[in-house]
Amino acid sequence: MKFKTSRQISTIKPYEAGKPLSEVEREYKITNAIKLASNENSLGFSPKVYDAVLEHMKDMNRYPESSAHVLCSKLARKFHVRQDNIVAGNGSDDIIALLAQGFLNPGDEALMPLPSFLMYEISVKTAKGVPVMVPLTDFSTNLEGLVEKISSKTRLVFITNPFNPTGSTITYDEFSAFLQKVPEDVIIIVDEAYIEFVRNDAVYNSLKNPLQDSRIVTLRTFSKVYGLAGFRVGYGIMDSEIAEILNRIRQPFNVNSLAQAAAVAALGDEKFLKNSIKTAHDGLDFLFAELGELGIHCLPTQSNFLMLDLKTDATRVFEHMLKLGVIVRSMKSYGFNTFLRVNTGTKEENKAFIKALKKVLF
Ligand SMILES: Cc1ncc(COP(=O)(O)O)c(C=O)c1O
Repeated sequence: MKFKTSRQISTIKPYEAGKPLSEVEREYKITNAIKLASNENSLGFSPKVYDAVLEHMKDMNRYPESSAHVLCSKLARKFHVRQDNIVAGNGSDDIIALLAQGFLNPGDEALMPLPSFLMYEISVKTAKGVPVMVPLTDFSTNLEGLVEKISSKTRLVFITNPFNPTGSTITYDEFSAFLQKVPEDVIIIVDEAYIEFVRNDAVYNSLKNPLQDSRIVTLRTFSKVYGLAGFRVGYGIMDSEIAEILNRIRQPFNVNSLAQAAAVAALGDEKFLKNSIKTAHDGLDFLFAELGELGIHCLPTQSNFLMLDLKTDATRVFEHMLKLGVIVRSMKSYGFNTFLRVNTGTKEENKAFIKALKKVLF
């Protein structure tokens, strides 16, 4: 290209999203495909969300509330924090990008596990920072390895709990010990996109068992258990001084009105939330049992997805399954060539996944 790109940005590989249903159906000339590739909620979302969105449609000629006031005040009450501790975003992706922009000077380092959710690396490079990657140990975050990589240039550390894509977790004790080894001026981003699905009480939950430490920024999303991925709403809970920086640089209307209304309504439906969590747990139990019977090894998981080892080129299996109308995720781009990641769906979708997998493998 004749134009000079930023050096950091030319090394970014585009984010590989899960294939949308419509694209697969068009490409393979099939109908009724199912998608278990992006850890979404197959149950849809709360009926209260429909009503709230319809109600707000009449105001769509107006700009949204810049501060997402109603949403943030509800979140503040739920998590016993102040409203100035919360920044809402166009998905938690938005908050990740804002943290990188707000706290990295060119050449500053951000630590993260390798592989990680790809938006960490993309956001850090976009902000002209340097991602410093620490390989997983036994499919889990290597906290000791992260500590070893801390340097005078370290500004951010990304922790994902539960971890995407492996489903592994960090306990409260492990996290507390880690915290003591991190310098006072380093921000620790704890991405809890899947925390609602955790069944093990020993797992660290930064809002349930807060450590009262101004370095910790919690990220949460409405895209997973609440089923609002298409609306794009996530948020960060953080020290008010960090929040103030993000508020200076975020787009003034980064969460649109329908998304704000949808998220507020979703918070008001505990029944849907509980049912979604139960459906994910039942789905995991079913998948583990079925895959176990087929002799397929799965990694333990505390989220709404699992990784399975096919001991063969998983991308070929992934492509074959696409033709059968079942979209899962090949883990090749994460360096796990023999693994697929599948999230739990409805009972019928889970059964359809097993049926398609048997057809491809046996
Ligand atoms: C670990 C992790 N963090 C953040 C996100 C992004 O969530 P959002 O849809 O809120 O941008 C995802 C989405 O897949 C994720 O897996």
